[in-house]
Amino acid sequence: MYTADTLSTAETAHTAVATDLGQPLLGPADLGGFRLPNRVVMAPVTRARAAADGLVPTAMHAAYYGQRASAGLIIAEGTWVSEQAIGFVNVPGIYSEEQVAAWRRVTGVVHALGGRIVLQLWHTGAASHPDHLGGRQPAGPSAINPRTRSFTPGGFTGTVTPRAMTEADIAATVAAFGAASENARRAGFDGVEIGALGSFLITQFLNPRLNHRTDGYGGDRAARRRLLLEIVDAAARPWDGRGAGVRLGPYWSDGELFRADEETLADYDALVSALNDHPVAYLHLRGRDLAAPGDAPDAGETARYRRLFDGPLIANNGYDRASANALIASGTADAVSFATHFIANPDLVTRFALGRELAAGDRDTYYTGGAGGYVDYPVSDWRDGPG
Ligand SMILES: Cc1cc2nc3c(=O)[nH]c(=O)nc-3n(C[C@H](O)[C@H](O)[C@H](O)COP(=O)(O)O)c2cc1C
Repeated sequence: MYTADTLSTAETAHTAVATDLGQPLLGPADLGGFRLPNRVVMAPVTRARAAADGLVPTAMHAAYYGQRASAGLIIAEGTWVSEQAIGFVNVPGIYSEEQVAAWRRVTGVVHALGGRIVLQLWHTGAASHPDHLGGRQPAGPSAINPRTRSFTPGGFTGTVTPRAMTEADIAATVAAFGAASENARRAGFDGVEIGALGSFLITQFLNPRLNHRTDGYGGDRAARRRLLLEIVDAAARPWDGRGAGVRLGPYWSDGELFRADEETLADYDALVSALNDHPVAYLHLRGRDLAAPGDAPDAGETARYRRLFDGPLIANNGYDRASANALIASGTADAVSFATHFIANPDLVTRFALGRELAAGDRDTYYTGGAGGYVDYPVSDWRDGPG
């Protein structure tokens, strides 16, 4: 069913293990120092279930990630590197000792169940709101409103004009990513991923419509990507040369100011090439949104970045069992990540292996807090299909 014509010898060896099941997605992989038993990655998903007081993960987080420990790799939800980074209600942090201790319980459960888990590091920058920051103005590359929305205790609220970060602010932010990465290591994570997508701080710096700086962090595309590269270097330091994962979304669009055009895509081509000179464990690519439900993702987009980046590649956005297997079989990506399918199917790997039906998630409970729609999705059994 899946073609393997273009696989390299190493990949063929991995795939040979999986051909018993007919699914290259279920073969093992060496992903930038992570040894994965399968290539089904859980994509980071914000679920807004941290305790409002102290933004600590709770016992429900341990249950939720434990239920999904059969993933080849779990990438835990976007998590604040500092108090300045906060920009969405009830999202956890990794900057306090209380948070480190609470995350240790989560990683301990996942490891006891045989899983691997890395933490996505987040900073909203100008996409935050004074309501998250004790009334203070958010800071971004320049004093330009990103004209997006922040989920505050009062609901989704329009962003404001931020103050421009000083070079001292930038140095403190890079240091905060480094400290958060060290905290993640102490909390028992297997690594970190830099969240460099969406409308948040790092993409604000990459974006010439929002970054009008005239110092070394703006002016041309090399200067605009400097913040990300400094963050990668700082976040990789605790991991003994393995590097940090980097998540990019070149096709992201949001309002008037974030849009993928030829110039943006050329910036991303140069950025992805530049990542080869930095300690990057893997590149996690969020592809273009599907034009219509049921469409297959465009493998050509992933191939563009496969040519530019020398390390392992995780593809994402709109994949199902068939399209993910075809992508791995073609050698275009090393793994595929799933977000919405993992929300509703804690045993996604089992369902793929046995060809069982997938459950649909309830969007109304994505960010509502509480156990409903979070830890109560059932695993499948023999009545749900073959196997
Ligand atoms: C409820 C929800 C929360 C998300 N939170 C994050 C996040 O914290 N960090 C991130 O990089 N992407 C986040 N995403 C994007 C997903 O990781 C993923 O890119 C997107 O859902 C497409 O993948 P899929 O087709 O497998 O669902 C989120 C998506 C959803 C639906």
